Amino acid sequence: MYEQFNLRSNPFLEDFHEDFPMIDREEVSRDLDFFLNGFMKQASPQMLAILGDYGIGKTFVLLQLLKKLKEGKILGDFKTLSLYMKVLTPKPPTKYFHYLYSETMNRLGLSSLRLLSKEIRGLRNKPRLARLQEIDQDLVKALSCIGTDLESPAWSFLRGAPILASQMKKINVDSKITTDERAEFIYIEFLKTLDILGYKSLILLIDEFEYILTATGAKRSAQIIVSFKDLFDKTNEMIGVGENICKPVFIIACTPGVWREGIPSLMNSVGLGGIYPFWERIYSTYTLKPFSDDETRRLVTSRLQARRIKTTNDAISPFTHDFFPFITKVTQGIPRRTLRRTAFVLDIADQRGIERINRDEAENILKEFNLIKTNKE
Ligand SMILES: Nc1ncnc2c1ncn2[C@@H]1O[C@H](COP(=O)(O)OP(=O)(O)O)[C@@H](O)[C@H]1O
Ligand SMILES: [Mg+2]
Repeated sequence: MYEQFNLRSNPFLEDFHEDFPMIDREEVSRDLDFFLNGFMKQASPQMLAILGDYGIGKTFVLLQLLKKLKEGKILGDFKTLSLYMKVLTPKPPTKYFHYLYSETMNRLGLSSLRLLSKEIRGLRNKPRLARLQEIDQDLVKALSCIGTDLESPAWSFLRGAPILASQMKKINVDSKITTDERAEFIYIEFLKTLDILGYKSLILLIDEFEYILTATGAKRSAQIIVSFKDLFDKTNEMIGVGENICKPVFIIACTPGVWREGIPSLMNSVGLGGIYPFWERIYSTYTLKPFSDDETRRLVTSRLQARRIKTTNDAISPFTHDFFPFITKVTQGIPRRTLRRTAFVLDIADQRGIERINRDEAENILKEFNLIKTNKE
């Protein structure tokens, strides 16, 4: 199968795979770069919601952004830390702030923490050292142990994972990070530490925000929102009174319906209606546009290339140029749909021995199977 197309398999059937490159959405990158640079000029914490329907590429935009932040291609002039996380795990956590804290540590990961640890141990600046003394000493000790032979207990402690008393003794810390309150306290202390080390911002890329509505029960969903609000408010207040703290920047991906309707009505239903005006005011939103014809062509071509048997100069074969604007249109430029429809067309063309898949062939196939005017999957 598929040899006639010089393909090892159908490249559009698979979910995302390591050897399919990410398509760089240049316009989106530019816009986000602009937003983030604007955020760096503000003293206060910031939030931006990236809105888009299922399958439009929100997760990919966040992952691409993370990559560019880490490579210094975005915000390269600023010292920042960034991380990607999902708002919920498959099994929703009961203590949300604790989850937010431990996920922050987990996702920053040992590599970032080793760097911080080194910076702490290498700190010679007197005023900064004095400020470090005012930070919670459990946190400072544990951070300083990362990258030493006491890394393992220190890492458990910092992540808020279960830890034995004997292990705590080894790194000389007193109280575990198990409750929401303690996690919130340590979170703030961590942000102050980042400021001492010269970090301008901690950038949290938070995916699948719409899932908070599927968390078990409205109360729990509300708890999640309140956790974000608390972190935002607290840092905002501290900055407001001139305390030195590294400001968090939240970039949140969500479906538009949940953002505009679901969350407000959730807040009303649990008596948090008063939060909403605040919530809305502090956010900027950025709506993802569908893929352009050109982005669709790059998506399809890169996948073909990853599954070629022999290298070829005809990068788009068996498709023809008029296929791309066509498939973009019928799938509304939503890459997940584009991939599914393209997989289907390729499969039928393969079965029927159609050699070149142009617009007309594709249209006939999709019409025959009633797949052409779908707005919903
Ligand atoms: N920039 C991109 N580069 C390559 N593939 C992409 C890109 N954006 C989306 N896709 C494809 O579309 C699918 C849906 O994208 P995803 O980011 O998961 O959407 P969302 O998070 O909005 O539901 C992905 O599995 C991937 O195959
Ligand atoms: Mg996603």
